[in-house]
Amino acid sequence: MSSVTREPIPAARPVIGEEEIEAAVRVLRSGRVVQGPEVAAFEEGFSELVDGRHCVAVNSGTSALHLLLLALGIGPGDEVIVPSFSFAASANAVRLVGADVVFADIEPGSFGLDPAAVEAAITPRTAAIMPVHLYGHPAAMDKIMPIAAKHKLAVVEDACQAHTAALNGTPVGAFGEGGTFSFYPTKNMHSLEGGMVTTADAEIARTLRLLRNQGMEQRYANEIVGANMRMTDVSAAVGRVQLGKVLGWTSQRQANAAYLDQHITAPAVTTPPLADGVRHAYHQYTIRIQGDRDAAMAKLSEAGIGNAVYYPTPIHRLKPYWEPDQKAGRNWDLPETERAAAEVVSLPVHPSLSAEDLERIATAVNELGDNQ
Ligand SMILES: Cc1ncc(COP(=O)(O)O)c(C=O)c1O
Repeated sequence: MSSVTREPIPAARPVIGEEEIEAAVRVLRSGRVVQGPEVAAFEEGFSELVDGRHCVAVNSGTSALHLLLLALGIGPGDEVIVPSFSFAASANAVRLVGADVVFADIEPGSFGLDPAAVEAAITPRTAAIMPVHLYGHPAAMDKIMPIAAKHKLAVVEDACQAHTAALNGTPVGAFGEGGTFSFYPTKNMHSLEGGMVTTADAEIARTLRLLRNQGMEQRYANEIVGANMRMTDVSAAVGRVQLGKVLGWTSQRQANAAYLDQHITAPAVTTPPLADGVRHAYHQYTIRIQGDRDAAMAKLSEAGIGNAVYYPTPIHRLKPYWEPDQKAGRNWDLPETERAAAEVVSLPVHPSLSAEDLERIATAVNELGDNQ
């Protein structure tokens, strides 16, 4: 053990700097605090990240998924194909609109939906496929989009972890009928809390705008039933500051990941593979560890290296999904999902890491050796 105690390296470090604070204060002083000019400007700015698609800002990534499913008319009687290896919000949005979740397995490399598993999961009730670009690595959209077209299914991209990621030059959020992003503080860019829906379809965009605001375009002329999922101008102003930096941050994350790829050599550890044509946003740098994962994580923590498992329990094993499935005698066959949930550990990759931090991370991981 080193006699010098060094600061622990956190797994994530949300940025709330002077610029973000000044932007928030400017809005507060202006008095225009909800869905005003800052929100409109944020939507316009974000559109540049998603090939000019319409952008509709809401109050969270979960709201973005929820409203997009509603806007696509997905509801009771419909099935949506979702990976079980994701944050619960992906499946929750499907259940919130009254549709049924059908889980499909993932590819071991990208951690995203396996196209063959998607095709096998299609039934006459399937209305949509929801690829999740987990950890910032795009799902196999080059194979999933043709499957969706063949079966006339909508594609709802959960890009909540993947701002600025792309596949073969197309940014995530610009493949499907719609895409969704989260601006939670630990994401690659944030707006304190917030979300964005992206779509190429002007009608869907209009429906989304109605749905987020009680069904109103004109005040008190409600056209449809809607909710209040508006974004505040304080959030949008913070989001705009971050939007100006996110491409640079992604480059830094990529450089950090490249360093770790090169320097992590422990036999027990597999570094995250990169599929052809992928621009990875490295929301997470996620390794697989053979052997006792808990023991390995304890050693990393002892060395002051932040680490976390996203996600230790696949969604199909969470109570609101597991119990009804057990009652119905439904068992999902998801071997790659189960394996990933048992093996993954995410390491710090955020843009605030110093060269010394990166060296410490690689050294601590290499000290795990074969983890026996
Ligand atoms: C894959 C995924 N989907 C959806 C969400 C929901 O986003 P939010 O927390 O902004 O509601 C998140 C955020 O954690 C996420 O990681």
